[in-house]
Amino acid sequence: MDHHPGNWVFALAAGELRADDVVGIVAAGHDIAIYSVGGAVYATSNVCTHGQARLCDGFLVDHEIECPWHQGRFDVRNGQPTCGPATEAVRSYPVRIDEQGVYVQID
Ligand code: FES
Repeated sequence: MDHHPGNWVFALAAGELRADDVVGIVAAGHDIAIYSVGGAVYATSNVCTHGQARLCDGFLVDHEIECPWHQGRFDVRNGQPTCGPATEAVRSYPVRIDEQGVYVQID
């Protein structure tokens, strides 16, 4: 796992994330969901705050990820809950992209 100044950690290679899709990865021990929405890339914790469901197994609709267990929703841009039963935000990670791929800032 590559580490970069400022705790940027390589998440996945360019081409591993399809347009308007979500992929689950583990970077520096963090379970993270990477989203592609309308040409932009976002990252949040991959674990729902209502239960232990993995958000990458849910449905991505525009900027919202719907949890596969109880259909709670989160805004992938900031992790904020947008539909119950989820009421607590998931962690949001800054994202950087270069020709190699996608990086997330862990701290
Ligand atoms: S586990 Fe995600 S909404 Fe319940």
